[in-house]
Amino acid sequence: MAEIFSSKKKLDGKVAIITGGASGIGEATTRLFATNGIRGVVIADIQEGERVVESIGSNICSYFHCDVTDEEQVKSMVEFTISSYGQLDIMFSNAGRAFLTRPRLSLTSTYPSWIVLIASMCVVDGGFTI
Ligand SMILES: NC(=O)c1ccc[n+]([C@@H]2O[C@H](COP(=O)([O-])OP(=O)(O)OC[C@H]3O[C@@H](n4cnc5c(N)ncnc54)[C@H](O)[C@@H]3O)[C@@H](O)[C@H]2O)c1
Repeated sequence: MAEIFSSKKKLDGKVAIITGGASGIGEATTRLFATNGIRGVVIADIQEGERVVESIGSNICSYFHCDVTDEEQVKSMVEFTISSYGQLDIMFSNAGRAFLTRPRLSLTSTYPSWIVLIASMCVVDGGFTI
């Protein structure tokens, strides 16, 4: 009950990446996060995200061009987030289009595979292939 009346916002001090944050559900989530105390939110998208960054404010929101099917781009995007904000708490893997070819992911990947896997899995029709 005390939580209901608390002025503390749920995302106070958190840092998030939202893939596909330049439009649609991802954009709406980025805006929702921004109004709930997020300290930093990175829009990772193949589509230009500067419009969203400008309307939210570049003090808390950044755009990073990233195709989530490309492991190197995902790695760079995570590194950009950590170097910009010092931490990463939330990853919303929203980017995607239905009915595309499943991405090829390798379990021998040297980069933390869970990040690449999670970032990529929404680009297919609800699943992924290893
Ligand atoms: N809208 C729906 O009814 C619905 C229903 C079921 C599932 N979904 C899923 O929800 C997610 C968001 O849907 P939406 O309606 O907001 O779609 P949308 O097309 O409005 O937004 C998708 C965003 O993902 C980005 N994107 C696409 N491929 C990308 C890639 N390889 N790397 C980085 N960014 C990429 C696009 O540029 C776009 O900004 C999608 O994964 C979609 O498949 C949507």
